[in-house]
Amino acid sequence: MDNEDTAFFHSWFRNYVRGFYSEDPKTQMNIRLKEEHTLRVCTEIVRLGKALKPNTKALQLELAEIIALFHDIGRFEQFKTYSTFDDRVSENHATLGLKVLKATDILNRLTETERTIVYKAIKYHNVRKLPDYVDENETPDWLLYSKLLRDADKLDIWRVVTDYYTERPRHRNTALELELPDTPEYSRCFIDDILDNRVSNSRALKTFNDMKLLQLGWIFDINFTPTFRYIRQRRIIEKIIAALPDTEDIRKIREHLNGYLEEKKLNKL
Ligand SMILES: [Fe+2]
Repeated sequence: MDNEDTAFFHSWFRNYVRGFYSEDPKTQMNIRLKEEHTLRVCTEIVRLGKALKPNTKALQLELAEIIALFHDIGRFEQFKTYSTFDDRVSENHATLGLKVLKATDILNRLTETERTIVYKAIKYHNVRKLPDYVDENETPDWLLYSKLLRDADKLDIWRVVTDYYTERPRHRNTALELELPDTPEYSRCFIDDILDNRVSNSRALKTFNDMKLLQLGWIFDINFTPTFRYIRQRRIIEKIIAALPDTEDIRKIREHLNGYLEEKKLNKL
């Protein structure tokens, strides 16, 4: 892969997304939201990749960028068909994305090895937990890219949602709330998962507050030290907590999450 390929893929992406632009303001806003998210994930993955490069010589930054560019390619078709980003009531947007990519021949510019890495990283970008490989020799090449993508994607989703929680009183976007009821309640299992350092299952979501707790718990699925640094610098935990009710439980998870971040600083993971 070279710079010419990167430019080609970016231009293909731009044209593809333009095909989904709409006169309907709600559709247009959500298509643009995913387009801009994608471009920022490209920036995040390259920044993260550069920070890791000294220790991961085999890492190809151009390939990482293309994975980020295509990771949410299924979102456009998803919103057009179902008017939602909720995979639970529509279909898995990663699988849909793979169908979109396979229906074109654009990835033929890549070698077969590169193509497999792109497909696998996209396929696994939204699973709750990546497969474990105990034996280093069995660890597939795509796993590193998948981990990078998952960190970069989370960094930008956190950015989108924390901006949204501040803006929400002025501009509501129910697609970003998965149409969940905005009541003061939250489900106990999300609190317990955080206290047990576990990522929650999105199937258990019942309220909008549950979604904020789910997003806080993603911190337990972060793979790289620089990502923890960005989380601290951008005050992600504080911003999401500020959008939750002030209760004993929430104060407890704030302590717990800040403690976890401090630990990661010391551990030099
Ligand atoms: Fe994404």
